[in-house]
Amino acid sequence: MEIITPAKRKELVIGLFGFGVVGQGVFEVLTKTSSFNARIKKICIKDPLKKRRFSETEFTTDANLLIEDKEINVIVEAIDDPEAALHILRRSLEKGKSVVTANKMLVASHLEEIISLQKEFGLPVLYEGACCASIPVIRNLEEYYDNDLLRSIRGIVNGSTNYILSKIFNEGIDYNHALLEAKQNGFAESDPSLDVLGTDAANKLSLLLTHGFGNIVDPGNFIVEGIKRITANDIKHARTQRQKIKLVATIRKTDENKITALVLPQFLNEGDDLYSVDDEFNGLVIESSFADKHFLKGKGAGSYPTAAAILSDLSALRYDYKYEYKKWRSNEYYEFTNDCQLRIHVSSLSVEHLPSDRFIEIEEQHCGPGHSWITGIINASQLAGHDWWKHEELSVIGCCDLFADDIKDKRIRRLSLRLAGV
Ligand code: HSE
Repeated sequence: MEIITPAKRKELVIGLFGFGVVGQGVFEVLTKTSSFNARIKKICIKDPLKKRRFSETEFTTDANLLIEDKEINVIVEAIDDPEAALHILRRSLEKGKSVVTANKMLVASHLEEIISLQKEFGLPVLYEGACCASIPVIRNLEEYYDNDLLRSIRGIVNGSTNYILSKIFNEGIDYNHALLEAKQNGFAESDPSLDVLGTDAANKLSLLLTHGFGNIVDPGNFIVEGIKRITANDIKHARTQRQKIKLVATIRKTDENKITALVLPQFLNEGDDLYSVDDEFNGLVIESSFADKHFLKGKGAGSYPTAAAILSDLSALRYDYKYEYKKWRSNEYYEFTNDCQLRIHVSSLSVEHLPSDRFIEIEEQHCGPGHSWITGIINASQLAGHDWWKHEELSVIGCCDLFADDIKDKRIRRLSLRLAGV
């Protein structure tokens, strides 16, 4: 009797869409792991005239040659247009092919349809590479954090903005130069405004929310601010406090049945796990009821780190792995809300732009020539769906203790200790 070793289980014959940073990464990683029992049969590209290093491979501009090829049983989608990618995904499933993608915008904006297509055709769509590249978080949220009740997830989920901020803070390199390096290193999206405006982070946040807590929320409902409006004054302010600014995506239960999620630049103290996540690395702090706290760190952008996640998805396909979306399907339901209190820092060149009347409580205020700011507590609903804080004269940054109830808890604890004479 022949023994079926894992490697022999199922040969993967791959049709690859896209040969940019991610597509080439997949190609090279598969070439380097010959024991993997997978081969790329055809690659669909946009520009046939572009010079390619791998002339022996079959390149085509005709998507049908991949979709209609009966031998190809997996489509790896690595293009950057989410609508074209959705079309490829639909047709691939219809033709009986599993799909692996790292396209976060595709998944975040069409998740319900992607779930229903998987059900209709009984085939998996896997996308570990769409969230934090090399950090294995989606499958962990699906499987490992299946029973332990999660309280919060916060993290650095965009490599480019983290690279830019690290260069600014650690090396004094200016924003434009650091952005150029992020592009040259293949970290940035082909439209880098998706990185610097926080859109990419919001898309990843929505995947974390679905797999961690079971909510499917359009990223347009999140409060999202990128790094573009962080000023030299903000950076100086952080430095004088011995802090850094990083772009942080946060999901947090606001009470037993409600949950909020947002992307904001945030001041971080040295003691914060995310403080030393630098360059293109991503980091995630996952808090749960029983395990308490986990910290995951890994490369969050770039050719090989993303390809590594795709390779892992391909490997999972050999075992017929599918996401079950257990939390989304379960009866336990969190209502998504923007009704919670945040502690933020709003700064401006001039005091007249500062929105003092928006704050529930102003904790600190400074008015000086060329730099005025307020630190205080605001209801997040003052930010969600409103534009006043996107005014070009203002920059908004979350404080180290972003959630005001954390601060109240700490104050109560300090007061109790004082009363107890400790
Ligand atoms: N542009 C993305 C980033 C690539 O910088 O994180 C990885 O998703």
